[in-house]
Amino acid sequence: MSNDNTHNQIHWFPGHMMKAIKAIETKLPIIDVAIEILDARAPLATRSTLLDRLLEKKVRIVVLNKVDLADSNITKDWVTYFENRGCAVLLARSLTSKMKPQLLALITSLMEEQVAKQRTKGIVNPKIKVLIMGLPNTGKSTFINNLLQRKVTQTANTPGVTRGQQWVKLNPMIDLLDSPGILPPKMDDNRVTMILVLIKAIPVKHLFLEQMANFALIFLLTNYYERLMKYYEISFEVNDINETTLLQYFTLLAQKYHLKVANVGDNTHRAMNFFINDLQSGKLGLISFEIAPK
Ligand code: GTP
Repeated sequence: MSNDNTHNQIHWFPGHMMKAIKAIETKLPIIDVAIEILDARAPLATRSTLLDRLLEKKVRIVVLNKVDLADSNITKDWVTYFENRGCAVLLARSLTSKMKPQLLALITSLMEEQVAKQRTKGIVNPKIKVLIMGLPNTGKSTFINNLLQRKVTQTANTPGVTRGQQWVKLNPMIDLLDSPGILPPKMDDNRVTMILVLIKAIPVKHLFLEQMANFALIFLLTNYYERLMKYYEISFEVNDINETTLLQYFTLLAQKYHLKVANVGDNTHRAMNFFINDLQSGKLGLISFEIAPK
């Protein structure tokens, strides 16, 4: 197992998180609606609780993005979870469905009272200012492109690329700051790190392939056992999960799919990559990595 390697690979700088939060904080005074983009498969792993205090007085929308990849039964519970905590929820398939009508309707209804108040104060054309924020790869650019009906290919999928900030009109009343707040991923919790790698919020590092593959296999054995058994048809007793039996599983997977590496005795690493790719590309079905706490 590569626990030590993992620690060498991952450097979590609380300073990065504070810097990102500060950058968002400076934009907040003029913001009316704060939109947090979360990955529907792992909403808590992709959420920053540090924002809670800052966003306390804002109208808040949680966008559960990539619902097309998540387990829909679990997604339902997440909607309830966030609604119970004072956030409106929008389920998004940013790659495939037009999100603008739903978002505009939601913002308009959430802001109805405030807009009416402004009108009574004599403001003829009240404005609503919206900011989007989220972790890398949660789909912020895709979501904004979707709203603005730009081609997704026009923006590079490169974390940390800063574009000039500008306001764009979503409709005559609603303006969106066309530069999302980017939060660094949380890396202080090993389970969260594994989930973030599996949903591709952070890249796979070769050195913790084994640890990640084992994490993913244990997760599927525990939560999606039938599906796993049906897909690969390799039997595995759930009451027999340990390092040795997990390795046996990957050895069997390598044999079954003829995953050989020239001149290398151990083909299990290929099986691990193969398994993780199947999981990430949806071959094992729609999967959620976190269950909403009751
Ligand atoms: P950074 O620029 O790193 O901050 O990422 P971002 O949050 O802007 O994410 P981006 O829009 O670049 O999307 C990341 C990946 O997720 C891309 O490969 C998108 O095609 C994909 N993606 C975004 N939204 C969805 C969605 O709703 N469903 C699916 N299946 N994929 C999505």
